[in-house]
Formats: sequence, C-alpha cells, structure tokens
Amino acid sequence: MLSFPPHSRPIVQALSASRIREVANADIGRAGILPFWFGEPDEVTPDFIREAAKAALDEGDTFYTHNYGMPALREAISSYLSGLHQPISAERIAVTSSGVSALMLTAQLIINPGDHVVAVTPLWPNLIEIPKILGAHVTTVALQFGRDPAAPLWELDIDQLLAALTPGTKALVINSPNNPTGWVITRAQQEIILAHCRLHGIWIMADDVYERLVYDTDGRACAPSFLDIGVPEDRIISTNSFSKSWLMTGWRLGWVVAPKALMEDLGKLIEFNTCCAPGFVQRAGIVAIERGDEIIRNTVARYQTARDFLHARLNALPGITAPKPKGAMYLFFKVDGATDTLELCKRLVREADLGLAPGSAFGAEGEGYVRWCFASSLERLEGGAQRLERFLGRQ
Ligand SMILES: Cc1ncc(COP(=O)(O)O)c(C=O)c1O
Repeated sequence: MLSFPPHSRPIVQALSASRIREVANADIGRAGILPFWFGEPDEVTPDFIREAAKAALDEGDTFYTHNYGMPALREAISSYLSGLHQPISAERIAVTSSGVSALMLTAQLIINPGDHVVAVTPLWPNLIEIPKILGAHVTTVALQFGRDPAAPLWELDIDQLLAALTPGTKALVINSPNNPTGWVITRAQQEIILAHCRLHGIWIMADDVYERLVYDTDGRACAPSFLDIGVPEDRIISTNSFSKSWLMTGWRLGWVVAPKALMEDLGKLIEFNTCCAPGFVQRAGIVAIERGDEIIRNTVARYQTARDFLHARLNALPGITAPKPKGAMYLFFKVDGATDTLELCKRLVREADLGLAPGSAFGAEGEGYVRWCFASSLERLEGGAQRLERFLGRQ
C-alpha cells in the first residue's frame, strides 16, 4: 500500500461530469440511433473554408503564431465585430483554441479561489464548472418558465438577478442566446445589469457564441450584446467561437474580447495554456469571416424552419410543452410528470433509439425538461419526433 495514493485536487474531484455525455457515451455511433443530444450542426464545414486550411498546409503553415493569433485574423475579427457592435480594435482581441478555451482563459484571468460567481441558468454545464476549477463558488439565478400559458417563454426576473449580484460578487456569467433554453436577453435588461455591475465592480462574462443564431428579429443580424453598450474599459469580457456561426465545431477556434488593460496578462495565459491556435486553422478562420456571411444567412434560415417545425410537432404531443426559442439551436421542453430526465433520456436511447439531452445536465433548474438540438434536416427531426411519439404512447 502506498503512503501517498495518487489523486487529483478535491475541487476537480467535486466537478460534475457531463450528464449529456453520461447519456451519449454508451451509445454514441451505434447504428440505428438518431442523435440530437449535442449542440452541433449536421453539415460539414463549407468547402471554401476547408480549402483555405488545405492551402495553408500545402504552403507549409505548420508553425507557432503570435500568442494573440495572426494579425490578419485579429483584424478580420475586429472589422466583423465592429460591423455588428461598436468599433472594437484588434488590440482587444485574442484568438483562442475554441470557445471553451476562451471561457477557461477568462476564468483564469479574473477568478480567485473563494470568489463568488453568479450564473443565469439553466446553462451549458461548462460555464458553471469552469469557474469552480479556479476555486469559485457558483450560485445560480434561474430563468422563469412560461408565465403566459398561451405562449410559454423563458424569462429573466431582473430583480431576482440584481438581488443575487451583491457587492463583492466577482462575476456574472451570462449566455445569451442561451444554451439550452434559447432565451435572449433584451437591451433594456442589459443596460440595467451593466449599470449595476459598474456600481459594484462586478465582471460580466458574456458568452456570445450564439449571437448570430437569432430568429424573428425583423432584420437584426445579431442578438443584443454587452459589446453594443459597454465602453472599452468596462469590466466586460466577451467570448465567442467559429463553431456555430461558420459550422466549424471540430476546428477548435474562438476568440476573447477583453479590456486593453488585461491583454498582456491574457497573452501570458494563452502562452501557458496552448501557446496559440494552429496557424492553418486560423487561416481558415480568416476566410470564414471574410466570405462567410452567406453561410450564416443560410444557416439561420434553415434553423428557423427547423425550429418552427419541431416546435409545432412537439407541442402536438400529449404531455409536452415546448416554448419557442428566440435564439441558439435547441428546444428545451417540459415533459409532464418527468422528475428524473437523466433516466428518461437513457430509456429513450435504449427503448426508442432517440438521443436527447436531460434537462438536469444544465443545472438543477433544468430538471423536468429535455433538450433537443434542432440543427438538423426536417426528415431527421420528423424521424425523431415519431420515435418520441411512439415512446410516449407506450407509457
Ligand atoms: C454556450 C456555449 N458556449 C461555448 C461553447 C463552446 O464552443 P466551442 O468550444 O466549440 O467553440 C458552446 C458549445 O456548445 C456553448 O453551447
């Protein structure tokens, strides 16, 4: 018996493993299963982006780049964001190896052990667990479901959130459009939150990865963002990704927008985490941004049709209430009588060959709900709906 058995830090041992993975891992790739459990488009990255990466490799782009990313990519992101929001200079932008890495770097930049972090939930689990790795205590403010039974929606109770953002709170974690609910924050709510956070020196960690996936917007190309209303010195850090807008989940490319005063330290952290994102991937990112508008337009149109189809289809099933999401790519619906959605989703896999994500994966507030990623063809969605219908009919 060793005197010092190997173990990881207690904080890491205490992290919750992903319940989406708990459902998916056993059956991932099994023939016959229809999976809608992950947040991933069903289309491969468009040709011209893949060609750009291949060309970069053929030209020998196999070396480290600057910690902050290639100047041309930072400039491209800067003009892209400046077109959507206020002017954002390239010196405030750092390229990262994915959106999730952007979140980890942000947490490493600002969170001390023992800090109090507030997260608006239900929420993608990584956003809750990452601050905990740095030793933060995370408390949650739950979105409210369905005040209007005729048109159920997820809503933020702004007074409840402000009450939770007490002086001394280090950061607010907010993801809008939200994974899993599709909730989109309003400009008025953002202004109230920003004023409150300024007053108490609270950081806003804004996860903007779904900012382009918004529906019924009367022509607005983007969800409201804290980057629209903050000044460059505000305690706002926005993280983003190429994964969703340009159909590039497997490429692992993202970025951070931070106040200038943090950039030197962010550069150190990038060096000690990954050094830089791969050069040939960054070259593909430049092309995606410069020529990708049409991809985004087509994707939004396709997802809106998919959302409307699945929303109507699920609401017609007995015992299901599905609010219509305003953004992102998920329906987060209530299943009457479901008290253990982890078990329910495991049964759906075993008994109906249907892969969905349990609501409890997104915090205790998500229990009773199930998430369905609708970034898929109508035929596949219909196939999935039929399986759910048959399963429910057998109960
Ligand atoms: C809310 C949210 N933030 C960040 C990410 C990370 O995206 P990626 O690491 O693929 O860039 C995801 C991916 O599903 C997400 O849902």
